[in-house]
Amino acid sequence: MRHLGRGAATAAAALAALSLQPAPYASASASPVPVVGGTRVAEGQFPFMVHLSRGCGGALYAKDIVLTAAHCVPATGNNTSITATAGSIDLQSPRAVHITSTKVLRAPGYHGKGKDWALIKLARPFELPRLPIVTDTAYDQGNFTIVGWGSTSEDGGQERYLRKATVPYVPDDQCQKAYGTGLTPTDEICAGYVDQGGTDTCQGDSGGPMFRKDDHGAWIQVGIVSWGQGCAEPGYPGIYTQLSTFAADIEAAADTLK
Ligand code: ARG
Repeated sequence: MRHLGRGAATAAAALAALSLQPAPYASASASPVPVVGGTRVAEGQFPFMVHLSRGCGGALYAKDIVLTAAHCVPATGNNTSITATAGSIDLQSPRAVHITSTKVLRAPGYHGKGKDWALIKLARPFELPRLPIVTDTAYDQGNFTIVGWGSTSEDGGQERYLRKATVPYVPDDQCQKAYGTGLTPTDEICAGYVDQGGTDTCQGDSGGPMFRKDDHGAWIQVGIVSWGQGCAEPGYPGIYTQLSTFAADIEAAADTLK
């Protein structure tokens, strides 16, 4: 099921037809429908957004450094196998720019639980704005924007056009009710509509940014798409790498790539 972006009603009907679960926003309201439950991003709206050829998202931490998830990349080292694409919401647009990686730096100590961040150094810079990351926990609350070219349903494929949705913060104690010790609360921050589900990141969105406005109205990255039980299932919020925990580590790591 592709291209659910033609409107909330269409998307809700399509989800219902998939019988994933009860249509999350079956009422007449134009509530957030994807990513799962979202809508297509306008060209130029999130210019820092990057697509990685490994089937993941990322964001421009610097013009020539992409911040993504550790689980999206192989081990730290020289690596010219990854293509980063940015500059258009449409992966097939002639305006999309493709730049090859030179190095991967995966979070030191990453073993598949927590610490889900990595940096990719690019062969040349993108002439696009970067997305700053939080440096403390002040923005680890409120509503977040999630974006990606990932599936719009649990068993869906990848999308050609970038999609977005909004999800609220979920406190660790509530998230632990769903995930128990699977959650690493120091390293991870949860977001989603716990009661109704219906809006979430999904396969292929990993590595992409979860972000919000700061006190000056500028976008600031709070999380990295990491994992979850299925996608958009009631009771199971999405889990994101908590950047407030790793900001200093990421900055130090980026310095070594300069
Ligand atoms: N691990 C997935 C990926 O590699 C992202 C899953 C996000 N899941 C969720 N329910 N929020 O693309």
